[in-house]
Amino acid sequence: MKVLEVKNYEEMSSIAANMIIELVKSKPDAKLGLATGGTPIVLYKELIQDYRKNGTSYEQVCTYNLDEYVGMDPEDSNSYRYFMEKNLFAHINVPESHIHIPDGTAEDLKAECERYEDELIRGGGIDIQILGIGSNGHIGFNEPGTSFSSHTHIVKLAETTRKANARFFHSLEEVPTEAITMGIASILKANQILLLASGINKSEVMRRLLTTDEVDEQLPASALKKHPNVTILADDNALSLV
Ligand code: GLP
Repeated sequence: MKVLEVKNYEEMSSIAANMIIELVKSKPDAKLGLATGGTPIVLYKELIQDYRKNGTSYEQVCTYNLDEYVGMDPEDSNSYRYFMEKNLFAHINVPESHIHIPDGTAEDLKAECERYEDELIRGGGIDIQILGIGSNGHIGFNEPGTSFSSHTHIVKLAETTRKANARFFHSLEEVPTEAITMGIASILKANQILLLASGINKSEVMRRLLTTDEVDEQLPASALKKHPNVTILADDNALSLV
């Protein structure tokens, strides 16, 4: 894993955005693996700004999101589908049919997981996967204890994750208890992985990730150590204990 230390959230976001823009310019039909949460919001803003200013086209790009809450209607303002629409898709020219996000309202969730994994495989592989990291080390919604050989699956969210994400909801009770997420093995299939971490509340998990060689299912992000092309882009605060 290559670790790039940057000053702050803004610098992290703009370096990450440039990596994506360069990829899309050199490979117009790039497959982008996208994440939600607070971390990538300014990165998406930068993509939108570049699209408006320089016209980088997403017409042939396909996007694959990591996860979605179970039971959450795509129109619900707390769904990850809605998040992506609001923060990126509505502002660039990616065709609707090129957007892939698990359907948390599917009647048969197990079949939906299989369908999504199949869609990922049929897409031919993700060129760059953007990841945030949970303070318990989760990537996507793969909570501690998730098998490293997991593919798209249903997870029960850890209470710490529900609490961390409650800031996007009116109350903790509203935060769903389950989600569909790409598995660790699905994530590791990406050609390149870019993990973003910003802020002091990520410092402890970055310490756990970066100060030992340990690869342990209790720390899902440690699976990334098995991948040949991972860049960690983290700011001073996130790396303050390393
Ligand atoms: C969420 C998402 C992850 C995200 C992580 C960190 O629960 N499922 O994809 O990376 O938690 O979130 P944030 O970027 O808001 O710190």
